[in-house]
Amino acid sequence: MLSQIPIDFNQVKKKGIDMEILRVGMIAELDAVNLYEQLAAMAENVNIRKALMDIAKEEKTHMGEFQALLLEVDKEQKKELEEGKKEIEEMSGK
Ligand SMILES: [Fe+2]
Repeated sequence: MLSQIPIDFNQVKKKGIDMEILRVGMIAELDAVNLYEQLAAMAENVNIRKALMDIAKEEKTHMGEFQALLLEVDKEQKKELEEGKKEIEEMSGK
């Protein structure tokens, strides 16, 4: 990861602070998804494995919450997300 977490908020302009906070939240949630899925893959106990996969799923919800908030405040991100989706649909013929 190239960005610094926790952020030195003195380096962030006041205008962009909420967007930066939301992006950090998204990164943390995606990292948590990977961590819990990796731990689930290693767990020998089936209940631990199930719990970890359930928690990983909840982290995806948290990621979606941060993303929804980011798309409300970062209109460029919203536009580029839609652009990226369109490009993939064209590339895959869907
Ligand atoms: Fe979370």
